[in-house]
Amino acid sequence: MAIKGSLNSNFRKVLAVCPPPALKQTQPGTLLSQKKYTLSGSWAAQKARERQKEERIKTGVKLTGFFQVMDHKTGWEGMEPIKRTELVDVDGIPLLKNTADNWQRLWAFKARPDDLLICTYPKAGTTWIQEIVSMIQHRGDPQKCDQAPIHQRIPFIDLFPPKPFPHGLDEAEVMPSPRTLKSHLPVPLLPPSFWEQNCKIIYVARNAKDNAVSYFHFHRMNKGMPEPGNWDEFLENFLMGKIAWGSWFDHVRGWWEAKERYQILYLFYEDMKEQQEKDRKYNSGSQMDPAREIRKVAQFLGLQLPDQVVNQIVQHTMFENMKVNPMTNYSSIPSFIFDQTVSTFMRKGTVGDWKEHFTAAQSEWFDDACLRLLGDSSLVFRTEL
Ligand code: A3P
Repeated sequence: MAIKGSLNSNFRKVLAVCPPPALKQTQPGTLLSQKKYTLSGSWAAQKARERQKEERIKTGVKLTGFFQVMDHKTGWEGMEPIKRTELVDVDGIPLLKNTADNWQRLWAFKARPDDLLICTYPKAGTTWIQEIVSMIQHRGDPQKCDQAPIHQRIPFIDLFPPKPFPHGLDEAEVMPSPRTLKSHLPVPLLPPSFWEQNCKIIYVARNAKDNAVSYFHFHRMNKGMPEPGNWDEFLENFLMGKIAWGSWFDHVRGWWEAKERYQILYLFYEDMKEQQEKDRKYNSGSQMDPAREIRKVAQFLGLQLPDQVVNQIVQHTMFENMKVNPMTNYSSIPSFIFDQTVSTFMRKGTVGDWKEHFTAAQSEWFDDACLRLLGDSSLVFRTEL
């Protein structure tokens, strides 16, 4: 594993000319209080074990496939309490420690020519596009999608959770073709076989401000992620690229440039959301270009779908429907890992929630960074609709 540490140099330059606003400069009432969730010591470990057991009883028997593992005697009781992880640099890009530990295997992953890869920066709307793709592949039949949670239908190849949770890479390797896979890797870290096989890739990008807010709340609720610190600290790390899967700027830009050379459909969360709102308001057929984003995906996959099927996909993937759907809302992940009482996985699903979190100074700081780091590309993000 070569540790070069060069890719974040842009961000150091930005911070040098564009320092963060003072840490105390926050709007009253917008800063979220932080709780420490790392479980250590015997009391905490005991509590974790009790909660693991409760969860196993609550959810274990109802689910299929992957979660059958949880029914076995060697299920969650044997599991170490989950610990917040550290980050380890791989080629200058911070990854979760378990991902870095498995790096050689991941790098050697053998993509197949008919693989479809869904790639995003974390919290850019991955689950949403996964469900859209899954529905398209199943020709709009929700029952087929409801057979397993989304993370089982589309393995996440760069996530290596602690045992007994299966690794996405293991699942992908035994999966029959054609496979659909998920990754958060930036361009320089994508296993080379994806390029060699010229696989189709769908990338979704989300504006930096909403993406940062969503990632912050995800860190709060997901006990496997590093401690986020408070909002100001998290935001600074986000801008510096000192968070899992690295710099948002490098990520969105790297994939934007790669689409000129490979089969990549580059989508924006904001376009998808705009379309979702239009489709909610009007019956499809009575508006111009209904379900535009879904049709783009179908076309990219070489499929012509009848209007009725497209309509079913529109309805099924509405935020409010995915929020209550156990196959998409991650309620199948036990709460000692995803504590949805802290923040739900399907949190708000909007464009512009950043306004509830950013101070004026932070907003200016971000706008300035976007201008400096994306200004010479043709990449444009909308932060409101
Ligand atoms: P918020 O935290 O802003 O609500 P990912 O799947 O990459 O982890 O992204 C999660 C984000 O996508 C969350 O954003 C979530 O609410 C949003 N999301 C998921 N499904 C959605 C849908 N059907 N419509 C709109 N937003 C959705």
